[in-house]
Amino acid sequence: MSDKKPSGLEDVVVAASSICYIDGKRGQLVYRGYDIDDLVKNASFEEVAWLLWNGNLPTQSELDSLRHDLAVAMHFPRHLLEVLRELPFDSNPMRVLAIATATLGTLDPDADSMTPEANRKKAIRLTAMLPLVTTAWHRIRNGYDLLESNPEKSLAWNFLYMLTGQEPDDYAVETFDAALILHADHELNASTFSARVTAATLSDLHSSVCSAINTLKGPLHGGANEAVMRMLEDIGSLDNVDAYMEQMRADKKKVMGFGHRVYKAKDPRAVILEGMSEELGKRANDTKWFEMTRRVEEIFQPTVASKGIYPNVDFYSASAYHVMGIPGDMFTPIFACSRVVGWTAHLFEQYANNRIFRPSSDYVGPTGRKWQPVSER
Ligand code: CMC
Repeated sequence: MSDKKPSGLEDVVVAASSICYIDGKRGQLVYRGYDIDDLVKNASFEEVAWLLWNGNLPTQSELDSLRHDLAVAMHFPRHLLEVLRELPFDSNPMRVLAIATATLGTLDPDADSMTPEANRKKAIRLTAMLPLVTTAWHRIRNGYDLLESNPEKSLAWNFLYMLTGQEPDDYAVETFDAALILHADHELNASTFSARVTAATLSDLHSSVCSAINTLKGPLHGGANEAVMRMLEDIGSLDNVDAYMEQMRADKKKVMGFGHRVYKAKDPRAVILEGMSEELGKRANDTKWFEMTRRVEEIFQPTVASKGIYPNVDFYSASAYHVMGIPGDMFTPIFACSRVVGWTAHLFEQYANNRIFRPSSDYVGPTGRKWQPVSER
């Protein structure tokens, strides 16, 4: 085995894309030319979805029609419900999301159609359905009745309502909507790349989104937000942070929610989520999780500053979601509920200008061996 790090495709350009731009040195994230700060302050998640899919912000009538299409698509097919009810109650919600997405493929009349119109319809349906599946799974596994979505309300409102059974307040909806915007796209991240690889074989949109969901699940990618929460729970109190981090350092353990292939400055999403986490904590009169998170950053970041390692999107989202009453294993599914918009925008781009991905490997195995019968091995 070579000592060299595997390349992980670092700095390899695999597609021309007009969807998302990251300036990793300056810590800047841009969707279709709009800075993320501008979008979080002014846009709704639905407007951002339209922007990512179509390239421009929607007019009022375009936005109304998207909201209408999403509301119509927020409907649980009976067959899907039967499938979910058959699953073991302790199933990982990301597995459930992948199963549900594959099942929705079997039920979608446009599943195998590859026209741009069919793909747009499927993207809207999946964007409407992933929040329904995520929240329904939480209710099913706890033995609660499922709730009807409210077609008059946003996707963010419906997610919080269907999860908790309580009408969320305006600040919770605003914050959750902002979190959805922040997670909606991120250039050629691992799950988006995986979706594009699947699509490049001319496999269908549902199958490509399944690949993306399964890729997002890993703790080096979307699964990091859940890992951050587990770490905070493990730490337990603000008083314990210093000793816990000292032990992490001694054990040379990675701190989840830190580091990024592209950012060599603080992730702009982490900057926004940090403020949101602090404010949510104050409003809930439960600042402990935010304070622990900030203390972890204070202690750990200077020790890795020379490697360009800073908090990423997953670091402050954990404490923010936690004080909103969202269970830890729902954090990565929430990421998927938002990123499905980015995945599908990239799929439109891939299908429109496709070539199969087929990289090469550097063969380092044995050569020239001669066959030995089993009795001689
Ligand atoms: N804690 C401690 N050290 C770290 C960390 C960390 N979280 N991340 C990277 N390093 C060190 C790493 O050990 C290596 O050190 P050295 O050069 O001495 O061997 C150096 O920094 C470079 O790291 P790398 O693993 O080669 O970097 P990468 O670009 O291959 O990996 C990463 C990027 C995000 C997978 C990695 O930083 C990591 O594992 N972070 C923790 C998991 C995490 O938070 N993932 C979420 C990423 S952002 C959202 C998303 O994409 O879902």
